[in-house]
Amino acid sequence: MRENRSRTPPEQLETARLRLSRLTTAHARAVFEGWAQDEEVTRYLHWRPHRTEVESIEHAERCEAAWNDGSSFAWVLEELGSGEIVGSIAAHDAGFRVSLGYVLARARWGEGFAAEAVRAVTEWFLLRPGTYRVWAVCDVDNRASARVLEKAGFSLEATLRRWILHPNVSAAPRDALCYSIVRSELGRVRREGRGERLR
Ligand SMILES: CC(C)(COP(=O)(O)OP(=O)(O)OC[C@H]1O[C@@H](n2cnc3c(N)ncnc32)[C@H](O)[C@@H]1OP(=O)(O)O)[C@@H](O)C(=O)NCCC(=O)NCCS
Repeated sequence: MRENRSRTPPEQLETARLRLSRLTTAHARAVFEGWAQDEEVTRYLHWRPHRTEVESIEHAERCEAAWNDGSSFAWVLEELGSGEIVGSIAAHDAGFRVSLGYVLARARWGEGFAAEAVRAVTEWFLLRPGTYRVWAVCDVDNRASARVLEKAGFSLEATLRRWILHPNVSAAPRDALCYSIVRSELGRVRREGRGERLR
């Protein structure tokens, strides 16, 4: 397998059905209208729904700054063909380990886009020398997110009790499922990817 030489991931990645493009302020309106103001979409996220587009602009500015300082990399997911922005994914880079978060517009749930994006980003990081682990947590009640990680080849390794704040559900910290995949599992995941790999 060919390793990635750069520490910083590409601003664009392609999968069978998606183009992942670095999230910038140019995407703020799509973020706001697509999912950030939606109470159902944000239920199991750590932030409250955006009330105005300004909040989505500020979010995009933070994403741009984090990309520039190398701490976190966020992309929007653009459906190839239609050009529609259907969601986003972010990778928080701690060097040897990288954690993921993702969100999709409600109208585009259930089409397998999240798993496709997770596979692509995971593959890129596990091909980067020195990165051994990609992981994610989700609320114990967020079955769709847990399923995304399972489909992408992650293993459930723990229930982290009172680990995560989801203010749209409750003020108290909630239990979370912790999933991970490690470098030695990449070959298996690539074989199972069936065309969802990077181009
Ligand atoms: C979680 C989320 C990203 C999933 O995106 P998606 O593109 O619809 O996911 P996929 O289509 O790749 O897979 C979803 C899987 O979960 C399953 N699923 C969906 N709702 C479910 C539920 N309530 N119970 C059990 N399984 C469920 C689907 O059947 C599918 O599995 P399958 O392909 O085996 O049938 C999307 O629901 C979302 O944006 N949710 C809000 C934000 C969020 O929770 N992000 C994750 C934070 S950890």
